[in-house]
Amino acid sequence: MAYQVTLQPSGHQFPVADDKTLLEAGLDAGFNLPYGCKNGACGACKGKVLTGTVDHGAAQDHALTAADRATGMALFCCAKPTSDVTLEVREISAARDIPVKILPCRVQSLELAAPDVMILKLKLPTNERMQFLAGQYVEFLLADNKRRAFSLANAPHADDLLEIHVRRVAGGNFTEHVFTQMKLKDILRIEGPLGTFFLREDSKKPIILVAGGTGFAPIKGLIEHALHIGIQRPMKLYWGAKDRAGLYLNSQAERWAAENGIPFVPVLSEPEAGWAGRTGLVHEAVLADHADLSAYQAYVCGAPVMCEAALKDFTAKGLPKDEFFADVFSYAPK
Ligand code: FES
Repeated sequence: MAYQVTLQPSGHQFPVADDKTLLEAGLDAGFNLPYGCKNGACGACKGKVLTGTVDHGAAQDHALTAADRATGMALFCCAKPTSDVTLEVREISAARDIPVKILPCRVQSLELAAPDVMILKLKLPTNERMQFLAGQYVEFLLADNKRRAFSLANAPHADDLLEIHVRRVAGGNFTEHVFTQMKLKDILRIEGPLGTFFLREDSKKPIILVAGGTGFAPIKGLIEHALHIGIQRPMKLYWGAKDRAGLYLNSQAERWAAENGIPFVPVLSEPEAGWAGRTGLVHEAVLADHADLSAYQAYVCGAPVMCEAALKDFTAKGLPKDEFFADVFSYAPK
């Protein structure tokens, strides 16, 4: 039977199905509960059971000591309720609430999605997870203290593998390495999560999402997260690229349009013959479709010049400046 969980001090409530842990059920319900390993080993998810009872499951003794248990603490990634419960937990409401970690990771897959776009999936060590907000980025730590920033393209609930979209940049050492030398099982080091580009869930405004090229990566993460938490706000996606190949996950965007009611407007700046869709600059397609942006929230990711133009032109059409969120670092080489 499903038990009811109440979080304190927020008062948030959610049910827990039989086979779910408190953490899984809370994340599924869209609440940002803190976690690290999801495996009973790190203690990052530890909180107090104020009322009710739980089965501690596979909590490891060093992460949940006998003294912890005696004072009502539990590891929410392992614990399952055996009655209705009230939990004391610090919910994450901002990027600053999430610890930034340096972690090794292994290349799990390399998929050439377009001639100049590689989709990279990375696996963290068994006892590690990287908690993040949809849309944030990580930095690869390279030799000579160099770093390269890339957005996370997966949503936090699907964190078995971290997904990165890498565009080949002429003369870019790291991206050249990805395309010509990187192989499965290579070990890399990343630091994250970083950045303040994430879905603001406390708003009711309709959302305009604008991606340029591989700026699609964090936008994909935002949409997958929004669908996972059952967001009710209207969303519309604009994705611009030079040519059709640049819309490298076009079928995914079309599926969201068909199955989830998220209209998708592809825009090509240098279209091939036969292209019947929109042409020009992607942010200008948004302007052409909206006489007044004052009621919207906009999430924009792409080249710096595109983000700057979008900020200037969207705010000129009434978008409040603090409803404009942009991530330029994930796309352009630093
Ligand atoms: S998330 Fe690491 S112990 Fe629960």
